[in-house]
Amino acid sequence: MKLVKLLCAAAVGCLMSAPVALAQDQILIKFSHVVAPDTPKGKGAEKFKELAEKATAGKVKIEVYPNSQLYKDKEELEALQLGAVQMLAPSLAKFGPLGAKEFEVFDLPYIFPNKEVLRRVTEGPIGKQLFSKLESKGIIGLAYWDNGFKIMSANKPLIKPEDMKGQKMRIQSSKVLDAQMRALSALPQVMAFSEVYQALQTGVVDGTENPPSNMYTQKMHEVQKHATLTDHGYLGYAVIVNKKFWDGLPADIRTALDGAMKEATAYANDIAQNENDVSLAQMKASGKTQFHEQTKEERAAWVKALMPVHKDAESRVGKDLIESIYKEAAAAGFKM
Ligand code: LMR
Repeated sequence: MKLVKLLCAAAVGCLMSAPVALAQDQILIKFSHVVAPDTPKGKGAEKFKELAEKATAGKVKIEVYPNSQLYKDKEELEALQLGAVQMLAPSLAKFGPLGAKEFEVFDLPYIFPNKEVLRRVTEGPIGKQLFSKLESKGIIGLAYWDNGFKIMSANKPLIKPEDMKGQKMRIQSSKVLDAQMRALSALPQVMAFSEVYQALQTGVVDGTENPPSNMYTQKMHEVQKHATLTDHGYLGYAVIVNKKFWDGLPADIRTALDGAMKEATAYANDIAQNENDVSLAQMKASGKTQFHEQTKEERAAWVKALMPVHKDAESRVGKDLIESIYKEAAAAGFKM
């Protein structure tokens, strides 16, 4: 069924590689994503819609499709390449299947000591260099958007790294995340975001990792008894467009959209932390999941268990790339 949907969309998409003219010569941008509207990404997409439609005086219409309504994780990237949708914001952990495995560097545990270091990476030459890898795939990277740092959840307390042993853990499609779970002796299972709630509910998997905003808006806290505030890794997004579509836009429209994207990016990155804080507070208040705050010693044990993943990932994402991020961390005063 899904395949039929994709093929149909693709057939239309082939006709749509040039900007789509609507009845009143409007240009249509379909922006598909997999999370709830009430999340950092969901709100960022709505903000972009509002700003872009205003900046182009209605010449561009943005249709936002949240919650995997149009496509699931892997399908949405295929749909973008085929031109069936024009804009997405997949998590940085989902670019491996496209052949842009360097993006998985963002998944390395504890690689970003804080948002300042992250920003140095996404807004500096490293962020640009990563985007340049997408062009040969027919994709242009427009911006990096935050979600936040992940917490680890399951149906048992996860205090020591050894508590992860044998736990079936849902992960995104990243090989670095696979290595991360294996370093904890857990059993990683790749699964589309839209399937996670049910998989947790039915016990297909025992646990998962996500920032609080995703956990709360998908109601995962209703089917997870425990979570530890590990902040062990980062989850963020690349806002991307179909290159043929983007290059085919009139220059003045592209400039207006670029401006709207800049503003929407500042907005999304500004609200992300608060969205996660509020979601965490709401989950705590619900009393369904028990949240554990790590002591210094507990955190040190997780860091020790997970840091070897950096070395393992060298052949996948590149030693130079990892080291260039260490340099940014060092410049911000952190030693890795
Ligand atoms: C996930 O699959 O867990 C996340 O990438 C979902 C998202 O887009 O935030």
